[in-house]
Amino acid sequence: MKPQNPPRTYRVKSFGCQMNVYDGERMGELLAEKGITPAPQGEEADLVVLNTCHIREKAAEKVYSDIGRLSKAGEERGHKPIIAVAGCVAQAEGEEIMARAPAVSMVVGPQAYHRLPEMLDRAVKGERATDTDMPAIAKFDSLPKRRRRSPSAFLTVQEGCDKFCTYCVVPYTRGAEISRPFKHLIDEAHRLVETGAREITLLGQNVNAWSGEDDAGRAVGLAGLIRALDRVDGLERIRYTTSHPNDMEDDLIAAHGEIAKLMPYLHLPVQSGNDRVLKAMNRAHTAESYLRLLERFREARPDIALSGDFIVGFPGETEAEFEDTLALIDTVGYAQAFSFKYSPRPGTPAASMAGQIAREVMDDRLQRLQARLNRDQAAFNAASVGRTCDVLVERKGKHEGQWLGKSPWLQSVWFAEEDGREAQIGDMVTCELVEAGPNSLRGALRQPAVA
Ligand code: 5AD
Ligand code: SF4
Repeated sequence: MKPQNPPRTYRVKSFGCQMNVYDGERMGELLAEKGITPAPQGEEADLVVLNTCHIREKAAEKVYSDIGRLSKAGEERGHKPIIAVAGCVAQAEGEEIMARAPAVSMVVGPQAYHRLPEMLDRAVKGERATDTDMPAIAKFDSLPKRRRRSPSAFLTVQEGCDKFCTYCVVPYTRGAEISRPFKHLIDEAHRLVETGAREITLLGQNVNAWSGEDDAGRAVGLAGLIRALDRVDGLERIRYTTSHPNDMEDDLIAAHGEIAKLMPYLHLPVQSGNDRVLKAMNRAHTAESYLRLLERFREARPDIALSGDFIVGFPGETEAEFEDTLALIDTVGYAQAFSFKYSPRPGTPAASMAGQIAREVMDDRLQRLQARLNRDQAAFNAASVGRTCDVLVERKGKHEGQWLGKSPWLQSVWFAEEDGREAQIGDMVTCELVEAGPNSLRGALRQPAVA
């Protein structure tokens, strides 16, 4: 590659999960420390980081079309951007990317992106560099402090997954489970609050597998961490995601009934409502044990909003087995959910299983499943009308004086300022939910606002 001018502007494009959003923000901060600034909206950046997702085929293929589009646009402008590929596709297909996409200067895995600044220096000299090492915790120690002020912040507490569901690439791309130390997390939480966060979402591929030692040297799990965060002044909301049904400790369920800051929301993927399919997925729980678990959360916190993930068309899934998933959905009544067509991932056991399902069958099942999930989400929103709750204001709405925020149940709520009652980002206001749409609710400001 030819030597290039040092970049003045950057853009990080993050795909996939919230962990990637967190990583993307940290990469932006690293680049900012080198004096590189975010490219203004609508302008091309000198350095583009594609922070990729490998979870499904469509997501993984997107990186190649993005690279093609970026270098073509750069050629037309006579100024090609430096392209870095980060995230899970980088981890899984680093060498292939280097071979297939000569326009790429850097390939950096999710555990190695703290080395991005050094790699960039090499890229400027015209060298191509790949780093997909997995040195576990090192990355977090060398990350700069957060600059962006958002009232809702992510905090990665755990990475990697040891569950090895047979369809999933995460244990390969993100590696084995590791937990960040208790003290680091409490310190980071304080820093987040100092820079404007009022809500923290604890992130982990299997967040319930987090474990550590508290200040007194006692072994603690996620509930212990949440109890410690409860004591952080200025922090008002705590959330966590994503959970696996088999790692739910009793104390976490109890915490939902005891800690006001812990929001009444649980994202607990089930994937399928059929025990044979669950077994083939290596989920190590049954539909029944999952439902019993949800019941315990509902007992601890009756208004808890439930969310899940679903896969349709896992190899061998019959119509009757699929209908078990529909039945489970009817039993639970989810407030929100994510659903996907099964996508065979290279190197995973399910990819070579017999009975791969035809695309049309998957399309049909996904449509039927999503119709139920949409119905339940609309019903949950409709049932919220009349509730008065706190709304954390996150951004401006489309119209002057209009604001968007989140309810405790993670619903998007918009409201309009009224005479003498102005709002700003980061406020916690009290709203009565007065009207429900399928994806959001309208709130009316009620006094007094919660300070
Ligand atoms: N195909 C389809 N969906 C998948 N997921 C994970 N791997 C696959 C795959 N190979 C879904 C699961 C998981 C969510 C993050 O993505 O539902 O919970
Ligand atoms: Fe993937 Fe299963 Fe781990 Fe979730 S629990 S990240 S689906 S292997």
